[in-house]
Order: sequence, then structure tokens, then C-alpha cells
Amino acid sequence: MSTKDHLMIFDTTLRDGEQSPGASMTRDEKIRIAKALERLRVDVIEAGFPIASPGDFEAVKAVAAAVKDSRVCGLARALDADIDRAGEALKGANAGRIHTFIATSPIHMEKKLRMSPDQVLAQAVHAVKRARQFTDDVEFSPEDAGRSEIDFLCRILEAVIAAGARTVNIPDTVGYNIPDQFGSLIATLRERVPNADQAIFSVHCHNDLGLAVANSLAAVRNGARQVECTINGLGERAGNAALEEIVMAVRTRADLFDCATRLDTTQIMTCSRLVSTITGFPVQPNKAVVGINAFAHESGIHQDGVLKNRETYEIMRAQDVGWTENRMVLGKHSGRNAFRARLLELGITLNSEEELNAAFARFKDLADKKHEIFDEDLQALVTDATLETANERVKLVSLRVCSETGETPHAQLVLTVDGVEQTGSASGGGPVDATFKAIESIVKSDAVLRLYSVNAITSGTDAQGEVTVRLEKGGRVVNGQGADTDIVIASAKAYLNACNTILHPAERAHPQIADV
Ligand code: KIV
Ligand code: ZN
Repeated sequence: MSTKDHLMIFDTTLRDGEQSPGASMTRDEKIRIAKALERLRVDVIEAGFPIASPGDFEAVKAVAAAVKDSRVCGLARALDADIDRAGEALKGANAGRIHTFIATSPIHMEKKLRMSPDQVLAQAVHAVKRARQFTDDVEFSPEDAGRSEIDFLCRILEAVIAAGARTVNIPDTVGYNIPDQFGSLIATLRERVPNADQAIFSVHCHNDLGLAVANSLAAVRNGARQVECTINGLGERAGNAALEEIVMAVRTRADLFDCATRLDTTQIMTCSRLVSTITGFPVQPNKAVVGINAFAHESGIHQDGVLKNRETYEIMRAQDVGWTENRMVLGKHSGRNAFRARLLELGITLNSEEELNAAFARFKDLADKKHEIFDEDLQALVTDATLETANERVKLVSLRVCSETGETPHAQLVLTVDGVEQTGSASGGGPVDATFKAIESIVKSDAVLRLYSVNAITSGTDAQGEVTVRLEKGGRVVNGQGADTDIVIASAKAYLNACNTILHPAERAHPQIADV
């Protein structure tokens, strides 16, 4: 039996992570990420900011309905309307949490809120009490705590705990703190707040100085028992503390921490890939834990050492975070049951038989083109199949591209728009440019292309290319994905996937542009 405390992992990829410019997610994408986080066994999933827009409200509500094993949290400023909206969005949750916040630093109170400390304190207490009318599980954050005065922090924390906050979260909103100083801030607050033992102390660190993970770990060493973090460190500006780094640091250096998480770390890579694909934010090769080089040994001396004894140069096992060998899992003769069983082993559950059929049909197509099908191919297939069965107005029927030395590339394609076939053609600077222009000659989305990125899913020249396209129209930013062994076709699929979102008027506004 472990005598260690439980370190709660509060994932805010769907809320703070989404505040990265361009990382906006649709409701269905949020559900897919939330399900992956649930399999990772995070304690709390912050699903969004329900007051931000009707779409954000719907997304939090949908995540609350879809997730059973993790708590689902909605963010609310310390305002009645925000709290009521969050309470409403979380009604269907198995376990719901309202996270309410107000700024406490002198600069934020004076310049942004134009409120006195006493007014801020009274509003915080009122907000916590109101949130408690919806749920017992209320979290309070003094925004910009990292630049707030300690006496005021002690006062406001004591008051909100007395009002019913079960978790008090200390955000380093602007990433200003330094590990030993942030660690002693947590220790001091726990010592000086008289009712500190009635709440869990949490931290939420931003990465402006590259210290978000170090600050969070220093806080944990000083008694914080919840860390707020995001997959791949996604988040506002330079991002938040990276979940995978926090979790693996606490596990790898268990000798230094008197607490442990309950996560299934083998799900980390699946979550990392999913978030990267959906948001179009690539993971840098040398990123700790989830970068492609994180477990690669280049130097001969290192390789020799690892072959003799893995622990000479490795402090973690790649498989413990979900890295799998590029192994052939299925071939073209594999049946539907083997396909379904392998997806289950990978922790992938499809929402309907229709999605499974679409994914299986793609698998058969791919097996004709590509001799070896790896786990990563299966993950991409499923992404593609889920996208295809989603509410699509425009579909690709066929594409023909001519690209020749000395000639201008030209694309000709057939699409169906609301079930009606249309043809289009265009020339462009390259085959992808020509394809996008041909699509636009039919779709006329009027959107601006903000990002185009291609990643090889596995190695080898027959690997599938996974393309992300980001489009912007009228301040609304959407991402689209597509995968294929032919990268021009993958590009067309990704462009159409983004178009299908942008053509959908009911979709949500990005929280950054929402008028709150
Ligand atoms: O960075 C921050 O202060 C936040 C709060 C809402 C917790 O994201
Ligand atoms: Zn934040």
C-alpha cells in the first residue's frame, strides 16, 4: 500500500490550451480529446469557459455528458452570469466543478478591474458561495497570484475557503516566478492561511520564462496537491506547464516526492499526438517525453551503453509513456474483428458502427497501397474516418494533379457540395497550391490560409502524410486534418475538413474573440 499523497492532475488543454492563437477546437474535437484524457485518467478536465460563447457552452455541456471517470470543470469569472452559465453547462456531469477567478495583483486590481482589494475580496466570496449552489466542488483562483501581495493573498484565500472553496489555485498567470521563490510562496500560504487544511492547494504556471514545469514541481515539493497543466504544454502565450513532464518527473523522481499521480502514463503519447493533430501545433523533435527524439540515441557511446544496459542513458522507459515500436500490426488480409480488437488495445473507441465501418474501409484501402500498417497509421485512419462521418457538406470525389518540370502545376477535381457533384480546376505555384485554388473555385469560402503543415506519420517513402490546414475567416480560426499516402490528396482532405467547419454557421466562436 502506498503511503504517498494523491497528486491531482487538472488538465486545461481544452480551456487554457485552446487560448493558444490558432488552437481553437470544435465541440467534437473537444470530446475526442476529453475521452483520451479520461483514458489517461486525469482527475479533472477543464473543458472550457461556458460564458464565452454559445458554442463554448455547448462544448462544455457535451464534454460533461461524454466523460464519466474524470471530473469536468467549467471556468467562470467571479460574476453571477458566468457562474450560472457554468453551472448550467455542467448539469449533466457525473462530477462537475466550477472554477471561478478574480485578479488579486495590485496592477490587475488597479488598472484592469478598477476595484479596491476589499471589493475584490467581497466579490470572490460572493462568487464562491454562488458556485456552491450548483456544486460542492468549487475551485477559486486569485489571478496573477504570482505578482500579488502575500498578506492580501492570505486574506482572500482564508475568506474563500470559509465560503466553501475546496480547491485554491495559485496561478503564475504571467510566468514571472522562479522555482525556489514560488515553492516558498506555496509553503508560506499553507502555513499562514488559518484554514489551509480545509482546501487542496493547486498551482497553474505559465511558461514565459521556460519555468512552468520547474515552478509547478517546486510547488508540489512544498505541499501543492493539484497541478494544472496541458498536453504538450499548449496554452496562452508561451504555454502552460506540460502535463507529460510533470507526471513523468514525479514518477521518475519518486524518491523526492511524497505524492504520486494516478495516471495511466502509457496513454501519454496518444494524447500528445491527438492534441498536436487537432490543433496543428507540431511537437518539437527534442521536446521532453513526447518529442520524436526523446528516446533516440545518436552518439555511438550512448548507443553502446544502452545496448549493454538501457539505464546507462535512459531514465524512463519509452513504452511507459506509450511509445511503441513501429511494428506491423495488421495486413491486408486482417478482418474487421482483428481491426476492432487492435483499436481497443490502442485505447481507441469509436462512437458508432458507422464510424467503425468508415475506418475499416479506409484501412482496406490503405492496406492496398501500403504494405505495412503501423499503430500510428491506425490512429490517423480513425481521425480521418471520424472526420468523414461528421456533418460534412463538401466531399472529395476525385482529384487529378499534373506537376512537371518546367510546367505550371494544374489541378482538376470533382467535389460534392450538399450531395451535388461539381467540377473545378486551377493552376498554382505548386501542386498543393493548385489543389487549394481548385477547391476554392467551387467552395468560395473566402477564408485565408494561416497554416499548412505536413508530417510523415511513420518512416519510409510509403508513409502516410498527415496534413493540418488552418483557415481564418472574419476572426474565426479553424483547423482541418487529412491523412493519405499521397500528400496532395491528404492536403485536399485537410483543406476540405477545415472548409466544412468554416461553412458551418452553428460552430463556436474562439474564446479569444468572443465578446465576454
Ligand atoms: O493563467 C491564469 O491565471 C488562468 C486562470 C483563469 C487560472 O488561466
Ligand atoms: Zn492560465
